[in-house]
Amino acid sequence: GGVQYGQVGTDVTLSCTATHASLPVQWRRAGAAALPEGSAIRQGALVLPCASLATAGTYSCHSEDGGLLHAVSLRLGYLPGVPFVSCRASDYENFSCSWTSSVETFLPTRYITTYRTDSHPSPTPWGRDPSRPGTCTVHGSEFWSSYRLNITEVNPLGSSFRLLDVTMQAIIKPDPPEGLVVVPIPLAPRRLHVSWKYPSSWPKEPHFQLRFRLQYRPIIHRSWSVVETVNLSEVITDAFAGLEHVVQVSAKDFLDAGNWSEWSAEARATPVRGARGIGCSPQQPYQLRHPSPEYIHWVPQVPGAVAALSCDSLSVPDHSDPLEKMAVLVSLGIFAFFILAAVLVITILIW
Ligand SMILES: *[C@@H]1O[C@H](CO)[C@@H](O)[C@H](O)[C@H]1NC(C)=O
Ligand SMILES: *[C@@H]1O[C@H](CO)[C@@H](O)[C@H](O)[C@H]1NC(C)=O
Repeated sequence: GGVQYGQVGTDVTLSCTATHASLPVQWRRAGAAALPEGSAIRQGALVLPCASLATAGTYSCHSEDGGLLHAVSLRLGYLPGVPFVSCRASDYENFSCSWTSSVETFLPTRYITTYRTDSHPSPTPWGRDPSRPGTCTVHGSEFWSSYRLNITEVNPLGSSFRLLDVTMQAIIKPDPPEGLVVVPIPLAPRRLHVSWKYPSSWPKEPHFQLRFRLQYRPIIHRSWSVVETVNLSEVITDAFAGLEHVVQVSAKDFLDAGNWSEWSAEARATPVRGARGIGCSPQQPYQLRHPSPEYIHWVPQVPGAVAALSCDSLSVPDHSDPLEKMAVLVSLGIFAFFILAAVLVITILIW
């Protein structure tokens, strides 16, 4: 016995190889009382017209006295389709392609993958990582070369290939930036300081830099604001005081090759409330907080930042800070001054 493969929708012929065509034979199907409808025996061979997936099974041919002459296991399926292939480079030296079949063939399938470049015009077999089936990686690829890929799907009925021209510039897509930190800027109610790092999969090299874009919004709003930058930090200047903001960052090749990375993990912060930061709002329970390590790192670079203090709406202050009291007094004084001025102006106008 053996395995024979057939294509769904075609006439499949099983031959009884052990016999002379002139001798009469019987065909049987294992586990079934009868042969599939429409089947016929021609010169000892069994012809199954317009086979369907249900026609698959084990068939045997017998001599007139019932002796087994031959058995065959029939498997039915489809020709391979042109496989779907997608390629991505998460750095500028290696790229990977992965593929999936475009047709469910119901048959054992394998892939032959080759590539060639301008400098290596003959097809090169492609190294595969057994732990990642359906994926190939080209290590040490040339950033400026064009790669012609051939991904061929093979099954017992035939093969089908997809050719793909790939350049690193077109498929490069960095991993998202890492280590996103957002902190409110003391004394600046509409500002948030955002910093991040290169993705660790992107080795730093002077020739291959990244640029970034930042998206942010108050969590109660739907629409994002976006800013682009080539730096590893940015100051958001139009945040809303007292509202918690969510921030994400993504990266792209500096020279605009390829695609933007996915957005990074979110980071959140709330800009300080109150025009002068330190004063906070007397109506709400605020606490003066001491600088976190990130502050110490950047505060000296922020023009006008005289103190590394921010307001946290975490708990009611259990101590009375003289600075806070004074700030409240000063704010009340300024407020009173404006009220007086307004009253004066209105009085003059009426008069
Ligand atoms: C490319 O892959 C190799 C092997 O995995 C790795 O050693 C190398 O650092 C990668 N190149 C870059 C630029 O990340
Ligand atoms: C693609 O690869 C398959 C298998 O190696 C081969 O039969 C086919 O001719 C190749 N196609 C082209 C256009 O190179």
